[in-house]
Amino acid sequence: MDNTTNTELIEKLYAGGGLCAEEYEQLIAAHTPQEAQLLYSYADALRDKYYGKDVYLRGLIEFSSYCKNDCIYCGLRRSNTKAQRYRLSQEDILECCRGGYELGYRTFVLQSGEDMHFTDDMICRIVSAIKTEFPDCAVTLSIGEKSRESYQAYFGAGAERYLLRHETADPLHYAKLHPPELSAENRRRCLYDLKDIGYQVGTGFMVGSPYQTAENLAADMMFLKELRPHMVGIGPFIPHADTPFAKFPAGTAEQTIFMIALIRLTLPYALIPATTALATIDPIGREKGIKAGANVCMPNLSPMGVRKKYLLYDNKACTGDESAQCRACMERRLESIGFRSVVSRGDCKVKNTDTNL
Ligand code: 5AD
Ligand code: FES
Repeated sequence: MDNTTNTELIEKLYAGGGLCAEEYEQLIAAHTPQEAQLLYSYADALRDKYYGKDVYLRGLIEFSSYCKNDCIYCGLRRSNTKAQRYRLSQEDILECCRGGYELGYRTFVLQSGEDMHFTDDMICRIVSAIKTEFPDCAVTLSIGEKSRESYQAYFGAGAERYLLRHETADPLHYAKLHPPELSAENRRRCLYDLKDIGYQVGTGFMVGSPYQTAENLAADMMFLKELRPHMVGIGPFIPHADTPFAKFPAGTAEQTIFMIALIRLTLPYALIPATTALATIDPIGREKGIKAGANVCMPNLSPMGVRKKYLLYDNKACTGDESAQCRACMERRLESIGFRSVVSRGDCKVKNTDTNL
């Protein structure tokens, strides 16, 4: 490769069109604080151009902590016998939505482990009950890998958005983070099915996960360019004490924020959440993420009694606050850095991400 400077690469990215894998890798592997600042200011400018100072709030309902999978990094993995398991009933979930609606939320994100107790019929009934009671709200599902037929059925019931992180685009790295029965290939299949069906799709990955290299992160950027999702959620890896990765170091806020800014420059229209994991490793991580290009927050709407049972990683932030407090806290924090929290549906600014802006 020629010796293009990082500054030139950042300028090139800002001018549009993205970078190649080697160029992303160079930027990710080593950059000065000044270069990072330049990247953040461009990311801030682009977020401003497409979304202004609006930050969309989505109410997150973690409705089951049961999971049939055994992802090595995750506190809810089936081998973790210490994890406390719970599941909410349809009525419990509707009650959360009612509370959330009162607080102004117009998007509900239903997330769970891969809990086989919930059949496709049950998921469809839950989705259509929410859509019937709250026709002005969007329902997002985040319930893992399913068949195309299942995804189609949920879509038919009224789910319009689906979140499924690809976790890492490199199949070898994927295999180090997951048990043999899970594959990067099936993840991709799921994501392309979801997009093809017509969902607004969110994907993403962990930053600083065990064995991750700058080359892996560059491959993640290339995958995002290829998939062109509506949303990209990333957060630092944080070890969970009762998993085999307990002794691995957490990803850093700096690394995560740098990746957020790179994503904003690569997919300018994307919805990018400032995640709870980022708030967990840095008390003002969410605010830093927003200033570097993020534009979504997902406060928890789960009932207080189950909050501390949905632990993907240790020391999770915001598990001790009532939904109303969380909502107020988020609004205050956003205002303090000059942003406005918006609870409307907050659709992605492009309907079909295959079309360039
Ligand atoms: N640290 C950070 N993020 C995690 N996730 C799961 N386990 C961890 C962890 N230990 C993320 C995964 C998953 C999302 C719901 O949470 O990326 O897709
Ligand atoms: Fe949950 Fe601040 S956002 S307490």
